[in-house]
Amino acid sequence: MTFMPPTHNNNPHLPFGDQRTAPWYGKDILSVKQFDRNKLSYTFEVAHEMRIMVERIGAFDLLKGKILANLFYEPSTRTSSSFTAAMERLGGSVIPINEVRYSSVSKGESLPDTVRSLECYADVIVLRHPEVGASSLAAKYARKPVINAGDGIGEHPTQALLDLFTISEELGHLDGLTVTMLGDLKNGRTVHSLARLLSLYDVKLNYVSPEILKMPKEIIDEIDAKGLQQSEYKQFDDVISESDVLYVTRVQKERFKDKKEYESVKGAYVITPKTMVKAKEKMIIMHPLPRVGEISMELDDDPRAAYFRQMEYGLYIRMALLAMVLGKA
Ligand code: CP
Repeated sequence: MTFMPPTHNNNPHLPFGDQRTAPWYGKDILSVKQFDRNKLSYTFEVAHEMRIMVERIGAFDLLKGKILANLFYEPSTRTSSSFTAAMERLGGSVIPINEVRYSSVSKGESLPDTVRSLECYADVIVLRHPEVGASSLAAKYARKPVINAGDGIGEHPTQALLDLFTISEELGHLDGLTVTMLGDLKNGRTVHSLARLLSLYDVKLNYVSPEILKMPKEIIDEIDAKGLQQSEYKQFDDVISESDVLYVTRVQKERFKDKKEYESVKGAYVITPKTMVKAKEKMIIMHPLPRVGEISMELDDDPRAAYFRQMEYGLYIRMALLAMVLGKA
């Protein structure tokens, strides 16, 4: 375990461990493709330590004096506020730009210039942007670490990391599981990133979606090349009983050009207490949230409903990632 909370400092010259040897120090986090099993284990160990520290003492000064620029070109509740909470629980502070229309972006400032401006004030930049590849572009120009908080229908790596951490913490292992992904598998960047991460383990993947919202072929081919078992379905009744994880996603209205097409699929699946009759006793239901009707609120009291706990795991993962790229873990 390389993470050292402040109370365990044993080097008088370096406050919380030697940042020069910290493996993620100064690195960008742009894609789940940067992670292998060892790197995931390391990240989860740090996140687990963060969980213990938050449960024990709430906040501590690991990143005191550090500043995060939280730059969001698209709406967010969870990602934005959990990065803010993560930084503040670690003793750092945040420049929040959640409404770019009130920043110089509205005057036509480019993304490269915006990140080069923010890094004059901040030590790390978290970016959400509607265009695929925007985080890579920002990272090309920035001297400080950039963390991708979602780029269009591309990737949402910190969500996938927190999703995998949720499964690991809730079920205790990853190998041997059957994971069923349901809903908008075409536009849902979270399922693209999560499927890629899961392909590092010995898992079976089921995809349940309407015909027009199927998992993209390039992802299926990529996972196929790793030899994993994958199956596609139209109805979740066919797979609910064998699933260890049911990962539900929202149909992403904002990604549809044709609103009639959206209307035709928006209510395709609704998970209710009745659905759960066939489910395993230890299955967990996950959702990146927000939900818009695809999981009934009547299910929220079922202990298998892990989607609110999942958000909390996101805090610990984002604390870990900030500490890692700032050389404190
Ligand atoms: N899961 C997720 O990315 O939520 P937000 O859009 O609220 O950040």
